[in-house]
Amino acid sequence: MNHNDPTPFLRIEGVHKFYGADHILRGIDLSVRRGEVVCILGRSGSGKSTLLRTVNALEPITAGRVILDGSLIGYIEKGGCLYHLPAEELARQRARIGMVFQHFNLFPHMTVLENITMAPQLVLKQTRKAAEAQAMELLEKVGLADKAYAYPASLSGGQQQRVAIARALAMRPELILFDEPTSALDPELVGEVLGVMRQLASEGMTMLIVTHELRFARDVSHKVVLMHEGRVAESGPTSKVMSAPRTPAAKTFFSTLT
Ligand SMILES: Nc1ncnc2c1ncn2[C@@H]1O[C@H](COP(=O)(O)OP(=O)(O)OP(=O)(O)O)[C@@H](O)[C@H]1O
Ligand SMILES: [Mg+2]
Repeated sequence: MNHNDPTPFLRIEGVHKFYGADHILRGIDLSVRRGEVVCILGRSGSGKSTLLRTVNALEPITAGRVILDGSLIGYIEKGGCLYHLPAEELARQRARIGMVFQHFNLFPHMTVLENITMAPQLVLKQTRKAAEAQAMELLEKVGLADKAYAYPASLSGGQQQRVAIARALAMRPELILFDEPTSALDPELVGEVLGVMRQLASEGMTMLIVTHELRFARDVSHKVVLMHEGRVAESGPTSKVMSAPRTPAAKTFFSTLT
């Protein structure tokens, strides 16, 4: 892990986002270093998902920029103006960024193995044999080697989410975005998904995670970012922000943490 590398791998600079007249993101600055685990926290409606979606250009932005490893995400700059990136280049950028959502979005008509091997074959041009060998390794890693030929509907929510994580990993991403990956799960299934994420973190994966799991954030993340009404209310090293919040929004938010 080299999260002591001072150069940010991901930089979000002055990002604003409007939906019609609604000013949803109001000037967000945030950086993530390689190997760093950053949790985005905040109340419902504070803009967490919208912000996460700007990172892989699922959400066009009104102002500001998102830079991954030195390259503008989603746009190209010419003569001081930003233009949308051509679809092919956008796809290349997105292949570097994994995304795991609250709802697993597995393809229901495909087996677990097919779900995991599809994108590596299509996008990375892996052979079926290579993609399947990699998928089996990843299934082993998330504890589901025996489910390769199962269909998603026959799996629990926790198992489906672990498949979704394996599917994201199969693209060998350099950064993974998680949007409330455990929010749709029954409480007894949350731990197995957080366990896989914890393991990824310890292996040095760069992760940007929207979560309501404050204990997980406290135990696993290097940095937390508290969003409040479209702004970063407070951010910094996890232990510092969570044990001694400075701003009123953060004090209120973390007062529920035991
Ligand atoms: N497609 C959209 N069109 C218009 N407004 C939207 C759209 N998506 C989100 N919003 C608004 O943007 C604000 C922020 O939404 P966002 O989903 O980013 O919040 P969040 O922090 O992820 O909340 P939650 O914890 O409930 O997931 C909300 O007020 C929401 O209503
Ligand atoms: Mg959300």
